[in-house]
Amino acid sequence: MAEYELLGLFQDVDSAGDAVEALRQVGVSDRSLRVLSAFPLSSKILGRKHYNHKLGLAAGAGALLGFAAAIFFAVITPQLYPIVVGGRPLLNGPPMLILVFELTMLGTLLGGFLGFLWQGGFPSAGGLYDKRIAEGYLGVAVQVDEALLEKVQAAYSAHKPVDLKKAEVKPRPDRRLLIGTIAIVALLAVNFALLAVSFDILHLEFLPDQMKAQISFASQMGPRLGAPAGAVPVPGVALVGGRPATAPLAMTEDSLQRGAILFDIHCAVCHTVDEDEPVTQVASFFPDDGEPPAMTSARVMARTPEQIFTFITDGIGKMPSLAENLYPANRWDVVNDVRSLTPAE
Ligand code: HEC
Repeated sequence: MAEYELLGLFQDVDSAGDAVEALRQVGVSDRSLRVLSAFPLSSKILGRKHYNHKLGLAAGAGALLGFAAAIFFAVITPQLYPIVVGGRPLLNGPPMLILVFELTMLGTLLGGFLGFLWQGGFPSAGGLYDKRIAEGYLGVAVQVDEALLEKVQAAYSAHKPVDLKKAEVKPRPDRRLLIGTIAIVALLAVNFALLAVSFDILHLEFLPDQMKAQISFASQMGPRLGAPAGAVPVPGVALVGGRPATAPLAMTEDSLQRGAILFDIHCAVCHTVDEDEPVTQVASFFPDDGEPPAMTSARVMARTPEQIFTFITDGIGKMPSLAENLYPANRWDVVNDVRSLTPAE
């Protein structure tokens, strides 16, 4: 049996209300009745039964989902993705409360919004419409089958609608469920993809590598370990395969001057220049077989510049590494100074 949709336009609330009443009396169910108006009208104004919408339910479900998501992020992710918290508790009340509040509210809002769309019949725009409704007219629309058509038309006419539109309803498959399901699945898929990326399950080369790649460290990270013994605070590697990584400096006047000053500061405490000089006080603490040699001694004179650089960098025997005292370039200055020395006659 064919179904029809009728839309009656009324100028004021009273006649619309009367028409609604008359329509109900001829047997139009409340479900198939729609009142269209540009301003909010409660169903009671038109003498209709209270329409039991499910917005609250949708908002509630959203809130529950948001709450669950918050718990997931606050409680489960720290277990999934271990970070160093320096002995402080992994779960932290106040920030967790904020997260739970925010996500629950977000869920409520989203749930309410989606519920509203669902209730409104989205995505189908739905039924008959008249532009005059936007101007303040009231539309009373019903969907009835052929058997009731005559009576319904009569009920409308009795209340003198400004206009009465009629259209046959073509049976259409209800695709809301399908579209809704696709939308939710798509949303979930995007979410899971994002999660997979942030947990490094899905590794995308072009994305920065999360926390690992960051130079800075977050406030909840534990104190860093001190530099390991022998670590050299230099820009770049000082030695590669035991050889100086930086190139020797030319033996310019500037370099020699710097070298002489740096030698006085960093080396002269232990080393003398000439063998005739009395050993320094510090040098006298070293055992006889490991005393710092004079810079013009045969032993030091036999060394190459690279070897001297390496001694300063790594230390040798009882001599400590001076890598922390001198940048590589300054080491070369000292090496230049040492190489420029000639033994006293
Ligand atoms: C804390 C004392 C101390 C300081 C400071 C020091 N040295 Fe030495 N140096 C030594 C001792 C001790 C030796 C002998 C190591 C051994 O044979 O066990 C030595 C050995 C050397 C040697 C000879 C290594 C060899 O095997 O031929 C050179 C070259 C040298 N030092 C250069 C320097 C220079 C350059 C500086 C300054 C940048 C410097 N040292 C600072 C204590 C010191």
